Amino acid sequence: MLGELSVTGPTRISINDTRFLWLIHARRRSAVTDNIDSKAETILRDNDRGGFTVPTAGLYPYQWNWDSIFVSLGFATFDESRAVKEIETLFEAQWDDGFLPHIVFRRDDPDYFPGPGAWDARSAFSTSGITQPPVAASAINDLWKASADDGIKSRLAALFPKVVAWHRWFHKYRVPGDANAVVITHPWESGRDNSPEWDAASANIDISGVKPYKRRDLEHADPHMRPTKLDYDRYMALVEFGREAGWDHEVIATQGPFRVADVGMTMILLRATRDLAELAGNLGHLDTKTELEGYIEQLEKGAQYLWDDARKTFCSRDTITGAHSGYVSSASFLYGYADVGDAEQRQKMAAHWERIGKASRYMVPSHDPDETLFDHMRYWRGPIWIVINYMVWRGFAERGWNERAERIRRDSADLIRAYGFNEAFSPVTGAGTGGKDFSWTAAMWLAWCGKDNRPATE
Ligand code: GLC
Repeated sequence: MLGELSVTGPTRISINDTRFLWLIHARRRSAVTDNIDSKAETILRDNDRGGFTVPTAGLYPYQWNWDSIFVSLGFATFDESRAVKEIETLFEAQWDDGFLPHIVFRRDDPDYFPGPGAWDARSAFSTSGITQPPVAASAINDLWKASADDGIKSRLAALFPKVVAWHRWFHKYRVPGDANAVVITHPWESGRDNSPEWDAASANIDISGVKPYKRRDLEHADPHMRPTKLDYDRYMALVEFGREAGWDHEVIATQGPFRVADVGMTMILLRATRDLAELAGNLGHLDTKTELEGYIEQLEKGAQYLWDDARKTFCSRDTITGAHSGYVSSASFLYGYADVGDAEQRQKMAAHWERIGKASRYMVPSHDPDETLFDHMRYWRGPIWIVINYMVWRGFAERGWNERAERIRRDSADLIRAYGFNEAFSPVTGAGTGGKDFSWTAAMWLAWCGKDNRPATE
């Protein structure tokens, strides 16, 4: 890859002049990195639809909740104001009760199914009726601390009560007192759509009444990389259940056919609450800070509810049957990001990391490669997602687990450098899977793994 780029510099050098060779090498390195940086920026600009960004053209033509938050971190590397705008437009779609939807439909696009008509969930904006992982507080706190601009800081401070309202919504409807973990009512809420973690809990979803529908995703992506028809029938049965309940979140949370305490959501909400409490302190909202500290204690208990003592891992758990999934997914490794687990649990997780690290050419596979359901190209059943890598890396780095952290950062940068800004990547071959020119992958290159200019492979 390096050889394809033109290198400017002296054409005649003495072979013994190592300093010169080093200089040329350094220039080539930055030429490669600059080139990828500008490609990443171009992806964000091209996917910008005017104040909000689509995950990728074609496959995902609307604004997605957690995509926008990661995207804001990418924009912040070259346009702070645009970064904040991305979060502001997302929160424009917030419902009166604090709920923040997973998709915001500003217009109907026939290229995507299920679109606004299938959801029929109306507030001021047409939106979906389910939510997504609450990464917003963490990004807002990061941006607030990094900014030296009072105007930017006050726009971020204006988002604070909205994020608090969303967290309260979670605690009202989705963090039941017996589990203390975050319960999802649709696999799409986890952001890890077809993870094998949902297979057992989905088996009881009645798909007999699902009305005929036409999938549009298969027109944009290889079917082998996408969820199956059975998965989609179940997704649609759950959308129909919610629609028939008029998107009454109380009904869905207590009577819905799918109610799983998600390890990813729980770790992410816990981390986000710690960040929100820090921001509350910095903004002088001390009562809210105390309220958030109560939530933190509760979610710490929730993390323990998700510890599977038979499999020795943090994993998701069906709240209807009480059964753990028993799987070590990439979300299991978010225990560092959430800062949970006693010494023994951390040691068991480190052993899983060692084992999976040996079995995978690249880290972190979304599903355990030693499991039979592992499928290295199929969405959340194996492929690597750079946004999860970022959060796992961050937790490991903060805890001082530097070797493991560095492997994640290096693998992520290598994958993007060699294969481009894919939706996800095979942990076996590195090949891209799903959509191309993905906004959040580009954003993570800019904000995180591409920031260190040291190529890991040459
Ligand atoms: C898929 C992913 C989800 C993401 C969405 C848009 O549904 O599983 O996490 O938010 O695509 O990129």
